[in-house]
Amino acid sequence: MADSGEASADVGSSLPKSWKIALAIGAPIAIGVAVGAFYYSRRRSDLSSGEKGGKTQTKGKAKQGEPTAHAAAADERTPEEKAQGSKNKGNKYFKAGRYEQAIACYNEAIELVPLDKTKDLSTFYQNRAAAHEQLKNYAQVVTDCTKALELNARYVKALFRRAKAFENMNQKMACLEDTTAVCILENFSHNQSMLLADKMLKELGKEKAQQRYKERVPSLPSGQFIRSYFSSFSDDGISRSSNDYNDEGAGDVGNTGYRKAHRLFTNGDYNGVIEACDEEINTDGDKLAEALLMRATFYLLMGQAAEARPDLDRLIGMDESSKKLRANALIKRGSMHMQEGNSSDAMNDFATAVRIDPDNADIYHHRGQLNLLLDRIDDAAQDFEKCNKLNSNFALAHAQYSYAKYRLALVHQSPMQLHTAMQELENSTKKFPTCAEAFALYAQAQSDQGQFHVADEYFQKAIALEPDNPTAYVHRGLLHLSWKKDADGAIAMIQKALEIDSKCDFAYETLGTIEVQRGNMSAAKSYFEKAIDLARTEMEMSHLFSLSVAAEAQRNVTTKYNITPPSPIL
Ligand SMILES: *[C@@H]1O[C@H](CO)[C@@H](O)[C@H](O)[C@H]1NC(C)=O
Ligand SMILES: *[C@@H]1O[C@H](CO)[C@@H](O)[C@H](O)[C@H]1NC(C)=O
Ligand SMILES: *[C@@H]1O[C@H](CO)[C@@H](O)[C@H](O)[C@H]1NC(C)=O
Ligand SMILES: *[C@@H]1O[C@H](CO)[C@@H](O)[C@H](O)[C@H]1NC(C)=O
Ligand SMILES: *[C@@H]1O[C@H](CO)[C@@H](O)[C@H](O)[C@H]1NC(C)=O
Ligand SMILES: *[C@@H]1O[C@H](CO)[C@@H](O)[C@H](O)[C@H]1NC(C)=O
Repeated sequence: MADSGEASADVGSSLPKSWKIALAIGAPIAIGVAVGAFYYSRRRSDLSSGEKGGKTQTKGKAKQGEPTAHAAAADERTPEEKAQGSKNKGNKYFKAGRYEQAIACYNEAIELVPLDKTKDLSTFYQNRAAAHEQLKNYAQVVTDCTKALELNARYVKALFRRAKAFENMNQKMACLEDTTAVCILENFSHNQSMLLADKMLKELGKEKAQQRYKERVPSLPSGQFIRSYFSSFSDDGISRSSNDYNDEGAGDVGNTGYRKAHRLFTNGDYNGVIEACDEEINTDGDKLAEALLMRATFYLLMGQAAEARPDLDRLIGMDESSKKLRANALIKRGSMHMQEGNSSDAMNDFATAVRIDPDNADIYHHRGQLNLLLDRIDDAAQDFEKCNKLNSNFALAHAQYSYAKYRLALVHQSPMQLHTAMQELENSTKKFPTCAEAFALYAQAQSDQGQFHVADEYFQKAIALEPDNPTAYVHRGLLHLSWKKDADGAIAMIQKALEIDSKCDFAYETLGTIEVQRGNMSAAKSYFEKAIDLARTEMEMSHLFSLSVAAEAQRNVTTKYNITPPSPIL
């Protein structure tokens, strides 16, 4: 399981993104997707080349042992035997915790051993590295391990020891490369190296994201994305064209401030919205609360959490303004906390929203999605249920309630519940025949169940209902990948998503994971880089950087150790 704190909650966890999250949770992120896929393919490929080196050396050593029979009791030991003797002495000191003495013995062994006994020599260097490790001489550990590896390139112990030394020296990339090599050489069965790789990927992802996020140029996502985000609220107090401002005052008041912002918004002219809100806010207009909420929402859509926060804080603190607006601000601030990895702050905001406006269906709808994200399926189902009770016409929430029940049936491993949940999902497509998400969620569940034909049919229906939504194409591509193992076909479908929305980071991320699965690490890395350029939040970036660096490390390792890239599994 992925650790949910890392999963990227999107700006409003609008539905399309929540599948992305569901997928991320279904398959462990970072190490799971990138390294794990490699593992899968690796198992099916031939590792014989990897094994040869070791075996021949072992044989050689056995032969070398023969002359020992000649040697009498007298001290006529060969240099090689003397070296072994020093090493054994060193090992005894090592076990007794006397590392300086152990090092002296290994020095002796290294001096004595004939240069052609490369296997022995590399062992002595590795042992000396182990002693230096105990003394925290990490630079020495690296030097000795490097010597050991020059003599025996696939010496896993030396590789892992060097990885740990690099970790201690805070050389994360070098650490990652070595620990990735261990993962691959050991078929991903070396738990400690898997954990270390995972840790490095997370830390590197975080570091790189911190840097990149500062440099990014904020831009609005596609119009489709913005509309889909707003449609994840049944009533936010700003996006519906309620009459509250048209009716009042003279006709032309609509040309400034919030009124202008709202008109631009309604016309899909999103670029001027923030500026028009600025006007309202700077002049302390009568639509201050609405303007704050609208501006904060657009900042969030552009991934500018720091700019959104003061507006949300201010609105939430305005006791006199409408509870609907304040509850909506709390939902958005809560989702923001979630993106920052602070789920307790997120849940606090949702709890406050419930206190302020207990019958607001949107609160439960969005909290349900966060609970789904946190793998609290029971809580999610309860939230969606409440949302449905409050607003039975909220198609999206209805479909998600059914989907949560489906997930719950999986958790409970109950065939009965599963059957009912599948029926309900199907029913929700009948009840809401124009709700694309209902079709897509049903398709997703059918796909999980291996019912690929039905799944494909419903994904196609979802696409027909919402042809400008790129995510459905990506999901259909993924379906084809599991169904027909046809990477090129899947890629073609996903390319279609990019034709529709060239800013669809989800499509780029998915293309990257497909390339990882067929061992095409350079291509994978460049897709992940494209997704990074489009990512809106630092956490999303961090996750994508982890994937990108994982692909890079695997590319480096397969090249360096001349491991044939896994035979394509797709
Ligand atoms: C790794 O897996 C391959 C194929 O299953 C096998 O031939 C090889 O011996 C394994 N190597 C190790 C180090 O476990
Ligand atoms: C490695 O992890 C696997 C799966 O999590 C576990 O079954 C196994 O006991 C672990 N091995 C070690 C040596 O920790
Ligand atoms: C969440 O934020 C609060 C303060 O706002 C802080 O006390 C807490 O430690 C944070 N939790 C995490 C997991 O970052
Ligand atoms: C689905 O709809 C059918 C027909 O309307 C109905 O008989 C059935 O009880 C519904 N199933 C569920 C689980 O809601
Ligand atoms: C690797 O990726 C590139 C770019 O996507 C693609 O053209 C090429 O066919 C891929 N190669 C393999 C072996 O999958
Ligand atoms: C991959 O190799 C390049 C060139 O040697 C190096 O700069 C980079 O740090 C390596 N990346 C990783 C993740 O190992």
